[in-house]
Amino acid sequence: MEFESYKQFWNDKAGSPESALAAVDGSTDETIVQRTGRFAAAQIGTALDIRAEDHVFELGCGVGRIGRELAPSCAHWTGVDIAEKMVECARERLSHLSNISLHHLERTALPMAADASIDKAYSTAVLCHMDKEDLFLYLEEMHRALKPGGLLFVDTWNLAHPIGWKRWQYEVRFWQKSDQSQRKDVARNQFCTPDELRLYAQHAGFEVLACFAGSHWIQLIGGKDLDPAQAERQRQRLTSQKDRIEYSPLFVDLFDKTVEVIYGRLHPRDALAFLDRHKGSPEEPLYRPFIQGIWKSNANVWGEPDD
Ligand SMILES: C[S@@+](CC[C@H](N)C(=O)[O-])C[C@H]1O[C@@H](n2cnc3c(N)ncnc32)[C@H](O)[C@@H]1O
Repeated sequence: MEFESYKQFWNDKAGSPESALAAVDGSTDETIVQRTGRFAAAQIGTALDIRAEDHVFELGCGVGRIGRELAPSCAHWTGVDIAEKMVECARERLSHLSNISLHHLERTALPMAADASIDKAYSTAVLCHMDKEDLFLYLEEMHRALKPGGLLFVDTWNLAHPIGWKRWQYEVRFWQKSDQSQRKDVARNQFCTPDELRLYAQHAGFEVLACFAGSHWIQLIGGKDLDPAQAERQRQRLTSQKDRIEYSPLFVDLFDKTVEVIYGRLHPRDALAFLDRHKGSPEEPLYRPFIQGIWKSNANVWGEPDD
């Protein structure tokens, strides 16, 4: 294992502004990071019903990909991250916004967040990169920091979905070929079933309002100390807005094709031809640069990319 702590691992990933962008999103292109940021911000903004008066908090904010898009529609946005270099990069990218705060973390705790001070908290593509003990501690911390009536959105890889299982198999095969006298990578991808994530959230004090698991990601929305009528209203709202929060079947299909390209089982040209048939969909411009990038950096396997 090359890195002993989450901090070392993610600071190394964020060694330059370009590599920090790539580490959060797979792209070094600012335009593309803004595009995927808008997509994720729309999902999370809907899940949390973000309003102009809300103080919104992101755990594992990276380069501020999502905060940059959400901050203009809330009262204050706070982003925290274990990697100082990610926070530096976020500070630069969000320098035009006056209603934001950024902090780096030293351990699995959120000391900068006072008890009952936050309206909405979220963490995306973060809890999947840590041990379950840390995942649970962060859920407890976000519960402490939320106001009564506050909402939480978290996600992680879904082991119970066929594509989630396929993605996990990648980790298994990787480990099978690794030097097993070394410990596993500290920030490797980790997976949950929906029931497992629910259990952690409930034990951290949340009432689970929705748990969408129809894709390779589990997306859980929880509430803190809601009265029964409030909880019922949120449940109904989330059911009616599910299509705007959950990943679409096309998104899942495209993710599957991307994994096949990464495994070397599908030529990127075929994945791009599939994308051609879906021009005009919101998903197509998210995946096209990603697949083009994989082809470009693996020209030794696939040949030079087509123009
Ligand atoms: C894949 S990136 C996602 C960033 C951001 N949420 C986004 O979607 O653009 C994962 C982020 O989580 C942060 N992170 C990883 N482990 C962490 C930990 N134990 N505590 C806090 N942040 C962590 C990393 O530094 C990195 O910025």
